[in-house]
Amino acid sequence: MKPFVLKPCGRLKGRVFPLGDKSISHRAVICCALSPAKTVIRNFPFNQDCLSTVRAFKNLGVRIDVVGGIKALAGTLAIYGRGIFGLSKPGVPIMAGDSGTTYRILLGVLAGQKFTTRLLAGKGLSRRPMARVTGPLRRMGAEIEATTKRRRKEIEEYPPVQIQGRPLRGMTYRIPVASAQVKSALLYAGLYATGCMRLIEPIKTRDHTERMLKLFKADIRTHGNQVVLRGRKELVSPAAFYIPGDISSAAFFIVMAAILPGSEIVVHKVSLNPSRMGVVRVLRRMRGRIRIKNQGVINGAEPQGDIHVQSSRLQGTTVEKEEIPALIDELPVLMVAACYAQGRTIFQGVGELRVKETDRIRSMSENLSKMGASITVLTRKRREDIVIEGGRQLWGARVKSFSDHRTAMSLIAAGIAAKGTTTLDDISCISKSFPHFINILNSLVK
Ligand code: S3P
Repeated sequence: MKPFVLKPCGRLKGRVFPLGDKSISHRAVICCALSPAKTVIRNFPFNQDCLSTVRAFKNLGVRIDVVGGIKALAGTLAIYGRGIFGLSKPGVPIMAGDSGTTYRILLGVLAGQKFTTRLLAGKGLSRRPMARVTGPLRRMGAEIEATTKRRRKEIEEYPPVQIQGRPLRGMTYRIPVASAQVKSALLYAGLYATGCMRLIEPIKTRDHTERMLKLFKADIRTHGNQVVLRGRKELVSPAAFYIPGDISSAAFFIVMAAILPGSEIVVHKVSLNPSRMGVVRVLRRMRGRIRIKNQGVINGAEPQGDIHVQSSRLQGTTVEKEEIPALIDELPVLMVAACYAQGRTIFQGVGELRVKETDRIRSMSENLSKMGASITVLTRKRREDIVIEGGRQLWGARVKSFSDHRTAMSLIAAGIAAKGTTTLDDISCISKSFPHFINILNSLVK
């Protein structure tokens, strides 16, 4: 792969239409596949991660057609669902690629089947921990064999996993880590369980699964950090579903517009789900000039609207650990915003960044430090905080994506506002979530 060379640019102006939200898209495919009817999904993003979920359900016997073929970066899927008990044993192991959401949520679905599945992962995902899902699924009755390795002082589990579906029992479970993937895997397993599934989160995470299951008429209720689900009931398809734009993709442009003087952009039709809006809340607190327009709820499930951003003189802030799940994927680009803000920014309790596509605490602090940023990582007991002293001039440097899409896009955001040339070793990883990121960026640069 040729390195990507980036020169600083003046300002960003124009309109952005992000592809459908990745998290919502995975859940839409799963609910459609598990309901006994045809559902049409519009604005489905054809990025690598979402296509991994589509392929997995095709392997499980679900007919999924791309209406009109893959001609653009997003399009329409027609899914002919089989009902919760209608999946069939795949003839070959299922390969989830590097999509952690596909892998972990699928474990929940597979735990309740009447067959055994082997679930494989790509190189990056094979290094990410799975015991957070396999552990509670075993408590529900699933039989799972995973690859084990010692990580720090504990035994951790990794792909590949062999999962033998079993009759499952509902349970009350306090999820030890704030993870929407874990919660979602357990909720999908709960669809197959007898009795009641009661999950308590340490901090509330994104709630797309709960919203989607409600839309599909599952027996599910939420109160604060608790979700209660009664399963063994067929889902009811809403017939059609539109995926709002991805706020995690939009966040790169929101930050770039905020830090580049003279910029003004509008991001259209983007998801405004409060459990994902942490990036906007924090940037506003940093005095980012951000307005929300045309708010509405689509398909009775997810709020959507337009986000208007103007360049701003950002100020440092403290982001508390309770805020982290609502901006977990935006932390790398918020670190860039903090470098360009005046004063100190503290991100508290960010340890989960260590187990993303790469260790993002390391990837971001090493790269931004090379560019001249002042970043300190503090470890107190088991909590990790990042402290950034903003307002220093950043300089272009030779930086590395660590094969992580969000590290790569965040470094491009940093480089575009720096002085001098930034060279990024490899940006092919960006297609995991946002294949036309560079095209959109080029169209906005003025
Ligand atoms: C996701 C949840 C988050 C997030 C990931 C997508 C989801 O992961 O980082 O990109 O769609 O549920 P965790 O659940 O591991 O925090």
